[in-house]
Amino acid sequence: MDTMRWSGGCLEILDQTLLPERVEYIKCRDYQTVCQAIRRLSVRGAPAIGAAAAYGLALGAFSLDTRDRRDFISALEKIAADLAATRPTAVNLQWALDRLLAAVKNSAAGDVAELKQKLLDEAHAIYREDLESNRRMGRFGQELVPDGAVILTHCNAGALATAGLGTALGVIRAARDAGKRVSVMADETRPLLQGARLTAWEMLQENIPVTLVADNMAGYAMALGKVDLVIVGADRIAANGDVANKIGTYSVAVLAREHGIPFYVAAPMSTVDFRVATGKDIPIEMRDEREITHFAGKRVAPPGVGVWNPAFDVTPARLVDAIITDRGVARPPYTESLAALAGRTGGSGGR
Ligand code: MRU
Repeated sequence: MDTMRWSGGCLEILDQTLLPERVEYIKCRDYQTVCQAIRRLSVRGAPAIGAAAAYGLALGAFSLDTRDRRDFISALEKIAADLAATRPTAVNLQWALDRLLAAVKNSAAGDVAELKQKLLDEAHAIYREDLESNRRMGRFGQELVPDGAVILTHCNAGALATAGLGTALGVIRAARDAGKRVSVMADETRPLLQGARLTAWEMLQENIPVTLVADNMAGYAMALGKVDLVIVGADRIAANGDVANKIGTYSVAVLAREHGIPFYVAAPMSTVDFRVATGKDIPIEMRDEREITHFAGKRVAPPGVGVWNPAFDVTPARLVDAIITDRGVARPPYTESLAALAGRTGGSGGR
């Protein structure tokens, strides 16, 4: 099932808020609809929102009627800023927009129509390359998975969060394809249940055995020896290896360390933000309090209660045993290993 597809000049986005009950696509004919889809998590997961934003920028470009290259680029930058503002934590979103803007600025084409086509081509390339990147992560990562392993994962870092296969779930799929007997323990992932609704659904579709647990059961499961390793995705990784991912990931990492269980992160290099030295500098998205005070549309907390609802947390690098990327597996110290995988001589400067 496609997370998104380009069809007849419009972007169709699988509405993940309806899964697993209904499979419906939202037709985005303008970039504002793409912004809305990203904000309300119809499309979610770092690589997927990067690709959706790229298509959104292409859609925005097609709506511009200027023929002047300079006017075109300045209007494009405004649209990119709107798309970038939808969700601040996943760096793939900004990365994809920067890549499209650079493609236009570096293009020798003077004709605006050609530049519009260039944007769409680049968006297609980002989507295509993501699938290949997932395959590579799978190949590298599956080596870390022993036969018979029970793997705990948090949130959804699967096909639905990418162009296909997934990052953390991509590694699990690759281990299965390599002939290993693997099974998954999926944290339900409060408050929006990406684990229960999406990861459980994806694994069942693939016939990979999956057991669903509420988030607060992970510690007891580990204490009873029911978990062999943890693999999660990431929304942004700082140059020192600190990892921002779905809220609750940090607690899982602390539990894993306490129980001597390996804690791995799988993410493409486009998720590593070398401009950010440590996790302290990663912006964390705060979301609507209704996500906490309500459950399935019904109020479950008294009106007037104070709510704190960060969508992500930061797991310090010291709790991460390895980062599985599309260029290889990075081990601590990450400042050096990530820079080496990215082909950088030092850990500073632009991305
Ligand atoms: O709020 P979401 O559902 O977009 O959060 C998604 C996650 O935290 C994923 O683990 C992360 O984006 C990696 S997806 C390959």
